[in-house]
Amino acid sequence: MARPYVFVNMAVTLDGKIAAADRRSFSLGSEADRREMDRLRAQADIVLWGGETLRAARAPARVLDPGLAASREASGRPAQPANGVVTASGDISIGLKWFEAPGIARFVFTGAAGAPAARQAARGRAEVVVLDEGEVSASALLDALAQRGMEKVLLEGGGELHWMFAREGLLDALHVTLTPWLAGGASAPTLLGGAGFPAGRFLRLKLEEARQEGEEMFLRYRVLGRNTGGPPAR
Ligand SMILES: NC(=O)c1ccc[n+]([C@@H]2O[C@H](COP(=O)([O-])OP(=O)(O)OC[C@H]3O[C@@H](n4cnc5c(N)ncnc54)[C@H](OP(=O)(O)O)[C@@H]3O)[C@@H](O)[C@H]2O)c1
Repeated sequence: MARPYVFVNMAVTLDGKIAAADRRSFSLGSEADRREMDRLRAQADIVLWGGETLRAARAPARVLDPGLAASREASGRPAQPANGVVTASGDISIGLKWFEAPGIARFVFTGAAGAPAARQAARGRAEVVVLDEGEVSASALLDALAQRGMEKVLLEGGGELHWMFAREGLLDALHVTLTPWLAGGASAPTLLGGAGFPAGRFLRLKLEEARQEGEEMFLRYRVLGRNTGGPPAR
């Protein structure tokens, strides 16, 4: 069984932040960025969020353009991609709208510790998939998605969710919208969170597309891996 393709879409400030330090939801991107988000969602079998992103956004990830939704259906796929959240605590009851939107298959990926709270929050409105003891591993999650016939997985944040895949070498591509904002804040979340890679072992990317629209840059990178000569440690 082939491992699903994993791609990220994220709007960042010029200083690489994805939100303010208080983590409140704030739309960084323009209308062009929202169109790009729709186009990428239309390619995905499932859109995945981390628990913090769900608690900040609450509403589900949907393809808004009726033409894109129709062409998904014409190719035998559901009009809307499935939505999934990854949570260790299972503490996602705040995501009320996310659980209630019609026409969307929903999944909660958690470990044994988070399963009771996740089931209580989902109340049958999402499939709760229990993968590990505590933290969920990206490889176990991708196996579960492959078993359900999913081939394209879109990660939409936040940085902790992206780290979960990056640390296991399971990212294939990044679509990054560089927006004309500076946020600052040492503790504000960035595109990639977690413990981070040591110097000399950074993840190496290849820039495959750069396009300017208005004040934004739309960048597409392919992930090459960690053994391809990262910046040397001093
Ligand atoms: N600029 C943009 O385009 C954009 C897009 C998305 C989000 N955001 C912003 O980004 C912020 C959230 O980002 P973030 O990095 O703080 O958090 P995040 O990645 O959204 O969520 C972190 C949470 O995900 C769960 N998680 C992550 N790795 C896990 C693992 N291996 N196993 C089990 N659970 C795991 C945990 O959930 P539990 O806490 O539930 O256990 C963890 O606390 C929000 O402010 C949001 O508004 C911005």
